[in-house]
Amino acid sequence: MNSSETTDTTMNAHKTLDRTFSVAPMMDWTDRHCRYFHRLLSEHALLYTEMVTTGALVFGDKDRFLQHTPEEYPLALQLGGNDPEHLALSARYGEQASYQEVNLNVGCPSDRVQNGRIGACLMAEPEVVAAAVRAMKNSVSIPVTVKHRIGINGRESYEELVDFVGTVAEAGCETFIVHARIAILEGLSPKENRDVPPLKPEVVYQLKKDFPDLEITINGGIKSFDEISQHLQYLDGVMLGREAYHNPYLLAEVDNRLYGSEKKLPERKVIIEQMLPYIEAELSRGTYLSHITRHLLGLYQGEPGARRFRRYISENAHKKGAGLEVLMNAVEAVETLRLQVMESNDRGGC
Ligand SMILES: Cc1cc2nc3c(=O)[nH]c(=O)nc-3n(C[C@H](O)[C@H](O)[C@H](O)COP(=O)(O)O)c2cc1C
Repeated sequence: MNSSETTDTTMNAHKTLDRTFSVAPMMDWTDRHCRYFHRLLSEHALLYTEMVTTGALVFGDKDRFLQHTPEEYPLALQLGGNDPEHLALSARYGEQASYQEVNLNVGCPSDRVQNGRIGACLMAEPEVVAAAVRAMKNSVSIPVTVKHRIGINGRESYEELVDFVGTVAEAGCETFIVHARIAILEGLSPKENRDVPPLKPEVVYQLKKDFPDLEITINGGIKSFDEISQHLQYLDGVMLGREAYHNPYLLAEVDNRLYGSEKKLPERKVIIEQMLPYIEAELSRGTYLSHITRHLLGLYQGEPGARRFRRYISENAHKKGAGLEVLMNAVEAVETLRLQVMESNDRGGC
């Protein structure tokens, strides 16, 4: 970032965060290109980075891992780690880079993560999470939040969940993002762990009743505004992962439905047009086109021509020398088809 951007971002960092709606941290998915795209769809949704491990920040190329643009705000950094000193240092790096929240991952069940004793397995060690939160809180002035499950196998009772949340809250965490299913740490892949254990939103509602002063966001399996409204009757926020990624146009309605905005919904092709200058700049820095366009594939989800859009981009964006024309052609193909469908619907109506 240049110095004028730093001034802007520092000012931004003090904006109060509204967590009514957020897009979940998703490894390999919510990278900076994806977040730039999501932000064009919603001004207010809180966006999360992919998980960044403390090892990457403390011993690696931290500027690369923390890279983002001011357009992405409001923006939270998710960390993976368990060592209080490393987490405190990583949180400080995040704050210095102008992230507006730092979130600790206590929900990811992958083996790789478990071997490093980070992610969901930490739910068995509330004191370790509490020490981590305390150290991070002492190190930064931005909010420190925790994302976790309602339990892990062998530690599934509501009392144990209350013990976890109570212990971590005492350490100063005021915001909890709760994936409303347990994680099974042996025998299920991370993907299965997002689908197989049943969702139990009522457990999260109960948590809010028992900890009314905490801010509690629910995550897991949410796909529609009806479900969102239902959850928001009981809770402070909703976080969507896969649905936001696969059906990103849903984000276009977030500002009007949840934040009182009255703007006209942006047309999909206008969103693509707004992406073009960004993509052009990225291509000139050596970014591959397909690394950006892969996040756009779901934009026409549910619309006539969605498959044509997706296929055209998938088949062409990775080719050597591929440029903006791939996207423009894909949009033209889908818009032409939409027009034909509308015309034939009109004729059918006569
Ligand atoms: C591809 C993928 C990567 C994910 N990576 C992370 C991650 O880095 N950190 C995290 O806390 N959760 C991660 N998750 C879990 C999501 O944040 C979320 O908790 C989960 O997908 C359930 O929400 P959903 O049903 O709305 O997708 C990931 C999920 C997916 C699909």
